[in-house]
Amino acid sequence: MNIGIDQISFYTSQYFLDLRTLAEARGVDPDKYIVGIGQSKMGIPPPDEDVVTMAASAAFPLKEKGDLDGVETLLFATESGIDQSKAAGLFVHNLLGLPERCRVVELKQACYSATAALRMAMGLVAMRPKSKVLIIASDIARYELESPGESTQGCGAVAFTISANPRLMKIDPEAGFYADDVMDFWRPNYLSEALVDGKFSTLVYIKALKASWKQYAEESGRSLEDFSRFCYHIPFTRMAAKAHQKLARGISKEDLDAVIGESLLYSRDAGNCYSASLYVGLTSLLDHAEDLSGQRIGLYSYGSGCVGEFFSGVVQSGYRDALLAETHQKLLTDRTELTFQQYEDIYHYGIPTDGGTHDFPQYRTGPFRFAGIHEHKRIYETTAAQNSRADG
Ligand code: CAA
Repeated sequence: MNIGIDQISFYTSQYFLDLRTLAEARGVDPDKYIVGIGQSKMGIPPPDEDVVTMAASAAFPLKEKGDLDGVETLLFATESGIDQSKAAGLFVHNLLGLPERCRVVELKQACYSATAALRMAMGLVAMRPKSKVLIIASDIARYELESPGESTQGCGAVAFTISANPRLMKIDPEAGFYADDVMDFWRPNYLSEALVDGKFSTLVYIKALKASWKQYAEESGRSLEDFSRFCYHIPFTRMAAKAHQKLARGISKEDLDAVIGESLLYSRDAGNCYSASLYVGLTSLLDHAEDLSGQRIGLYSYGSGCVGEFFSGVVQSGYRDALLAETHQKLLTDRTELTFQQYEDIYHYGIPTDGGTHDFPQYRTGPFRFAGIHEHKRIYETTAAQNSRADG
């Protein structure tokens, strides 16, 4: 039985900061960000957008198309969780009107957890082939202002369903994976910004990649030539390029671009989406590449701390009919650019912690917004965007 990704939908905030604006404010040569880091813009969530609203907004187009019928489990992957106890997925479950008969749980391992969710989902579907699992990876990448990580912030969510006989991609059983207890990137419970040993993190990313690839290649008997494209975890697009150059030593710039270029387009403009990043890359590839039917794609997932996994999938014939490419491209082109002052104001907005009643100002969001906090309880609401679509 083929099991894999049936549908995929990407969402990022309606606001972005151009990295040229950041470079000017920080007195940095813009080419360091545009060329050296490989990022053009970063998605910035306004105060009334969080991992819950982004997740629900990513999944909403699937709900509208009836693609969530049959979902029995919702796995929510995030590094930027909003509660120490309650799974963020429960808010999403309510916003999407999913049935009561649904398992909902949150998974954490930095940027890796959506891949753990994918593996778990495959097991669940193997046991009950008529059921579906909805996985949503949603994250806000946030580092200290003026730190080296600042230019690698971003935000976004990807919702994807796992089913038998998937329309988009069958996932292969083989995988290579690797774990090590390292402090390359982490976020203590009392901080809202990640701490990172930046250079070290890039080295561990590569070390985990090499170990995962070696194991995958031994288990599957495949070599790099067996793949038409590769998708990497994308903290910044240059990292994905460097990763592939480590596996395919001496590869030309043209060949490198041919195998990873399409997967980097959305991330270049949305920034790091942590647990969603690999799947933002996969969405970007499927939306932009010429027909990939029957072709094998290599995927590398990495979460600091750290866990890495190399796995693969085969694109299914007819997959293009199921893509939401136009929705994704419209989302990115319709975003509002922030001034540097607006970016810093949003950065400092903060979440009130006094248990009072706080209603948040309304910015542009997708179909859902984080309306405020009342007595430590998060309040979410639907927006006119959804109402008008529903009316129409
Ligand atoms: N024109 C062109 N290129 C330029 C340039 C210019 N004017 N100025 C600098 N560059 C190049 C540099 O040569 C360098 O390229 P190489 O890596 O090929 O040498 C590149 O731009 C970056 O410059 P620096 O190395 O000097 O940058 P930095 O030290 O200030 O910051 C960073 C880089 C450490 C990655 C930092 O952005 C960071 O800490 N980011 C957050 C951590 C991160 O994303 N880690 C990735 C691996 S961990 C992971 O993947 C999990 C996750 O999601 C966080």
